[in-house]
Amino acid sequence: MDFLEFDGIEHRVFEDAWSREELAAVLPGINGINTWVVELNSHIVGYLMAQEGADVVHLLNLAIDLPWQHRGLGKKLLNFYLDTLPKDSEVNLEVKRSNWPAIHLYINEGFTESNILPRYYADGEDALVLKKEIC
Ligand SMILES: CC(C)(COP(=O)(O)OP(=O)(O)OC[C@H]1O[C@@H](n2cnc3c(N)ncnc32)[C@H](O)[C@@H]1OP(=O)(O)O)[C@@H](O)C(=O)NCCC(=O)NCCS
Repeated sequence: MDFLEFDGIEHRVFEDAWSREELAAVLPGINGINTWVVELNSHIVGYLMAQEGADVVHLLNLAIDLPWQHRGLGKKLLNFYLDTLPKDSEVNLEVKRSNWPAIHLYINEGFTESNILPRYYADGEDALVLKKEIC
């Protein structure tokens, strides 16, 4: 996978993008972390990263590059990934409280709020913890 493509998307879509070191730590696929990508014309335009335990999955990152947003790709990638998970898995994720596009996506796909983590992010914003049981 082309590390620079991930780095470029990460900085275009997130104000608090993962650093190159953070990306480098997850991309090789260690510690049960898997990355799924959307490719168009041999270029990565989106990705989903998740850490998979025995029954619990932590969705670490989901991004669609700016020019490709609002075309259904985020929803498709998320559902494609969820369909790969065994029945009875639990999926958890954190999302910024102000990130309405992402929250809408997750709620529409059956995630529910399970917790709030005050000042979870570096800029002091709270995280919503969302979860979904795969059935
Ligand atoms: C969140 C993100 C992955 C959604 O991907 P996308 O391809 O743009 O979204 P889709 O076109 O598949 O839309 C799917 C759903 O997301 C929600 N959504 C997407 N953009 C939205 C917006 N601007 N406002 C409100 N809801 C929005 C809607 O529920 C939409 O479903 P609908 O069109 O049936 O209403 C994308 O906007 C993104 O990369 N954002 C920046 C990174 C980020 O915040 N990632 C999530 C971190 S937890």
